[in-house]
Amino acid sequence: MKSSELVIALTKGRILDEVLPLFERAGITPVENISKSRKLIFATNHKDVCLMVIRGSDVPTYVEFGSADMGVVGKDLLLEYGSEEFYEPLDLKIAACRLMTAEPIGALPAVGRLKVATKFTNIAKKYFAEQGQQIELIKLNGALELAPAMGLADCIVDIVDTGKTLTANGLEPRQLIANISSRIIVNKASMKIKHDIIRDILGKLRMAVEADQVR
Ligand code: PRP
Repeated sequence: MKSSELVIALTKGRILDEVLPLFERAGITPVENISKSRKLIFATNHKDVCLMVIRGSDVPTYVEFGSADMGVVGKDLLLEYGSEEFYEPLDLKIAACRLMTAEPIGALPAVGRLKVATKFTNIAKKYFAEQGQQIELIKLNGALELAPAMGLADCIVDIVDTGKTLTANGLEPRQLIANISSRIIVNKASMKIKHDIIRDILGKLRMAVEADQVR
């Protein structure tokens, strides 16, 4: 790969369907259908830009170490990653949801240390410490909503969008920890070395986001 190329890290899945139209309006379109391909890196119509598609939780790592110059990642994963080793210049205002605590519907406060199941362990640790609440943290990688019903935890910390997953599993949202949306992050060295192209793309993305807000 040429050193002049700008590498942008994206995530497959539902965020991609919202991200690609924004990128198209910023002049960047992949030359093939990302969703239908098994490939992980894609050329675009812009000769200096390529897109890589990885897990959301890996986007901050690639951008921090400069293997990707820019990335699109949810604020939840940024908070969990907890690094300030990259810039976060733009809120794309897509994939909006909330990071919340949730407990069984109508449950009374737990006696003793609260057992909290989550994949967002750093966020949960920080949040409950700020609340002065002692917790026992249980790390899970998915299907968190099962943990209270199975007696593994009193409470979960998870993403809530429509709230349907919570309701379907006998849970209700309790405390709001953070409002979440997708953000652009930029490697600090790339921002200096590839300033012109990054500024150009950021400017066009910002205009596309603003146009969406007034629709
Ligand atoms: C998230 C979250 C919940 C669900 C909430 O999972 O973990 O399970 O969405 O959505 P709702 O409030 O609209 O029901 P996601 O589908 O992102 O997959 P994940 O389990 O891999 O995080």
